[in-house]
Amino acid sequence: MQQLTVNLDDRSYPIHIGSGLLGQVELLAPHIAGRQVCIVTDDTVAPLYLQRLCQTLADYAVVPVVLPTGEAFKNWSTLQQIFDALLAARHDRRTTLIALGGGVIGDMTGFAAACYQRGVDFIQIPTTLLSQVDSSVGGKTGINHPAGKNMIGAFYQPKAVLIDTDSLRTLPAREVSAGLAEIIKYGLIRDRQFLDWLEQHMPALRELEPALITEAIARSCAIKAEVVAADEREGGVRAILNLGHTFGHAIEAHQGYGNWLHGEAVGAGMAMALELSQRLGWLSEAEQQRGVTLIAAAGLPVTPPRGMLGEDFKRLMAVDKKVLDGQLRLVLLKQMGEAVVTADFDGQALHSMLAVAGR
Ligand SMILES: NC(=O)c1ccc[n+]([C@@H]2O[C@H](COP(=O)([O-])OP(=O)(O)OC[C@H]3O[C@@H](n4cnc5c(N)ncnc54)[C@H](O)[C@@H]3O)[C@@H](O)[C@H]2O)c1
Ligand SMILES: [Zn+2]
Repeated sequence: MQQLTVNLDDRSYPIHIGSGLLGQVELLAPHIAGRQVCIVTDDTVAPLYLQRLCQTLADYAVVPVVLPTGEAFKNWSTLQQIFDALLAARHDRRTTLIALGGGVIGDMTGFAAACYQRGVDFIQIPTTLLSQVDSSVGGKTGINHPAGKNMIGAFYQPKAVLIDTDSLRTLPAREVSAGLAEIIKYGLIRDRQFLDWLEQHMPALRELEPALITEAIARSCAIKAEVVAADEREGGVRAILNLGHTFGHAIEAHQGYGNWLHGEAVGAGMAMALELSQRLGWLSEAEQQRGVTLIAAAGLPVTPPRGMLGEDFKRLMAVDKKVLDGQLRLVLLKQMGEAVVTADFDGQALHSMLAVAGR
């Protein structure tokens, strides 16, 4: 088992990574203050892992909440079901919420924990590759609004993150690729050597070779933890974690939440960020191509959806959370392994790139 720490003073918390962790009550018990536990999961994950986790927590009064699966349900009315269950079972302020599932469940459970009785403890048990390397770490929680993704939410850190790599065995290949998008992101923004390593091992990573996938998860979590510790509330450097996401969120919103997976949209969005960085003269064509090839090798799209035009991007990107005082800021690459967040780029280069999008 590997252990990392997200360093946030008195709100610091551990990330445990390894095989068989779902059965280890000793990893959970130190982070559960009372007897009441509410496990939030979805109807895809519940038949796979809920019983196992309930057995592990046999000494607690556990209330399971099984939500409908998918991004399309990351909204107010689904969130309400968590509060309904907590109140029906009379959970008090010492209750602990446990998110068992992918990023949708993690984001909603975290937000519910931030709101319920003005804040109760929660633990992340991410079961998708994407949630294990990204969404379970860092404390961004929330739901979607029809006008924009993750527009309603809170920064709220978990007490612990438990990553059981065994849970990846049931994950569809398409979801594995979606998780690899965020893993590639860490290499592109922060770690050139990790990028080399990913190029070398991509086929085995797609097959979830245990030692390699554990290493990829640990390196990704280490980078995320470091960036979050430096800038928890995204006043600065944390925004680099959004490489490809401004374009990607626009793609997700345009296609309807859930049709393109988040990771797929980020794959295409990172390819667009690589292209724009090249158009601006910051990357060579060879570097751009190298990045795009790696994204494609992970089984991800590298072009925007057909029919999504430049004006669609502009309209949807205008609500991005990185827009400040009406100015669009983008995460771009100064070089491979080094990202910047900037509004200071040639708008014409963006315009030219978007002019040929979706055709
Ligand atoms: N909070 C953050 O910092 C952050 C970062 C990145 C992404 N996100 C959010 O995360 C969400 C995407 O997360 P996701 O990709 O995990 O999506 P998801 O939660 O929808 O899970 C993907 C699918 O896999 C299923 N699943 C989960 N675990 C499984 C398993 N072990 N075996 C088989 N099937 C399993 C789910 O039921 C679902 O159908 C988006 O809403 C995105 O906005 C948040
Ligand atoms: Zn993401």
